[in-house]
Amino acid sequence: MSDQTFPQKSFPQGLFPATFRWGAATSSCQIEGGWDADGKGPSIWDTFSREPGRTFAGDRPDAACDSYHRVEEDIALLQDLGADVYRFSVSWPRVLPKGRGAVNPAGLAYYHRLVDGLLAAGIKPFCTLYHWDLPQALQDAGGWENRATIDAFVDFADLMFREFHTKIDLWVTFNEPFCSSFVGNWFGVHAPGKTDLNVALACAHHQLVAHGKAVARFRNLVSLGRARGQIGIAPNVTWAEPFTDTEADRLACLRPIQWSWDWFLDPIVFGTYPEHLERWFTERGFRIPILPGDLDEIHRKIDLVGANYYCMSVNRHDPAGGLLESTQVDLGWEKSDIGWPLTPDGFTKSLARVRDKYPGLPVYITENGICLNAPNDPRRIVYLDQHLRALARALAQGVDVRGYTAWSLLDNFEWAEGYAKRFGLVEVDFRTFERRPKPSYFWYRDWIASVRK
Ligand code: BGC
Repeated sequence: MSDQTFPQKSFPQGLFPATFRWGAATSSCQIEGGWDADGKGPSIWDTFSREPGRTFAGDRPDAACDSYHRVEEDIALLQDLGADVYRFSVSWPRVLPKGRGAVNPAGLAYYHRLVDGLLAAGIKPFCTLYHWDLPQALQDAGGWENRATIDAFVDFADLMFREFHTKIDLWVTFNEPFCSSFVGNWFGVHAPGKTDLNVALACAHHQLVAHGKAVARFRNLVSLGRARGQIGIAPNVTWAEPFTDTEADRLACLRPIQWSWDWFLDPIVFGTYPEHLERWFTERGFRIPILPGDLDEIHRKIDLVGANYYCMSVNRHDPAGGLLESTQVDLGWEKSDIGWPLTPDGFTKSLARVRDKYPGLPVYITENGICLNAPNDPRRIVYLDQHLRALARALAQGVDVRGYTAWSLLDNFEWAEGYAKRFGLVEVDFRTFERRPKPSYFWYRDWIASVRK
C-alpha cells in the first residue's frame, strides 16, 4: 500500500488517555451468515428479507460475510489492526432457536470460539445482546408488541451473563432501540415491516422494560459472582440544529433528538419519557402502554452509554414534515454514498449534550463510520480523521469517553440496503468471502499505534 493513498499522516499526541480503548464493531445478522447452520432458528430478518421488495435486490443475510465459519480470520484482522476491543452482537436465535426454551449448544460454542479467540489475542469482547435479529418464533407470537417477549429477553440475557461471566465484562442490552422499534414498526423499512405507531410505541416501551429487567438480573448475578463488569444501552445519538433561531425550528430539532435517544435514556436515567415528545404523541392520539411499575423497572442505574453517531442535520418546522412536523434542510453538504452528510461537529456537540444531560455516565462510542462503496476509500480516511479529532475535542471538553469502535470492521449486510452499501474498513467479496483491508484500515491501524504511544 503506497503512502500516497493517505491524505495526511500526522496524528495528534496526548489527546486520548492511555486507557482509551480502540477497536471496531459488527453485528451478528450483518456478518455471520450460517443462517440455518447447526440448529440456528430463523430471525425476523431471515423472514423479512424473503418477502418481495423488502431489501435492495432481494439481498438476504443467509451467508453475509460467513463469519460463522471464519471467526479466526476476523480476529486476525482485529489483531493486525491493533484493536484492543471488539464490539459484536449475539444472534438470539442462534443460541435459542425458538427464542426461549431449548438452548442450541452449537450456537453457544460459536460465541465461546469467538470470545476465546479475542481474549487470546488480547482483545476485550464487548457484547451487544440485541442488534435487531429477534427470533422469528417470538415474532410469530407478537414480537416486541407482546409483553411476553420481555421475559424471554431477560432469560436470554441471563443465559449469556452466566455462560460468559468469566470472559465478558462489557455489555450493551439494546443497539439503537429507535430503529428496532420505530424503523421496524412505524416506518416499515426494517423487520418486521409494520407501519403502526402504537405498535412501535409498545415495542419501544417493552424493549425498555426488558432492558431494565435485564440490568436488574445482571446486578443480581454480579452479587452472586455469576456475572461481571459493566452494562448499558446504545441509542442513536443523532444531532440536529435549527435552520433559523425561531422557537418553532428549535422544537423541530428537539423532537427528532428526543425520539432517537432521549426516548430511551430519559426513562432509564430519570424514570420519565421526554415531556415534549410524549405530549406531542398523546395529543395526536397515540399511546404508550405503560403498566404500573414499568417506569420503576426501567429507571435503574446503568454503567455506560454506547453512543452511535453518524451525522447531524439542520431542521426547520414544517407542518408538512411528517408526524414530527420537522424537515431536514439540504445545505449542500458533502454526502456519503448512503446520502448522509459529513458533519464531524455534530459528533462533538452530541457528546457534550450527553455530558450535560446525563452527567456521570461514561460513554463508549459504539458506532461511527461512513458508507463508501468503492474499496479504495480515501474519503473514509478523511471521515475518520475528522471524527476522531472531533472526539478528541469532546474529551477535552470533559466528556467521559472510554473507547471507540469504528463501524464497521467488515463490509456487511446493510439491512434493507442489502450488500450494496459498504461501511467496512475491510472489503468483503460476498461470493468468495475473501477479506481485503482497505486503505482506511491501514490508516486507522497507524492512528491507533500512534495515539497510543
Ligand atoms: C446500525 C448498524 C448499521 C449502521 C449503518 C446503525 O444504524 O446499528 O447496524 O449497519 O448504523 O447504517
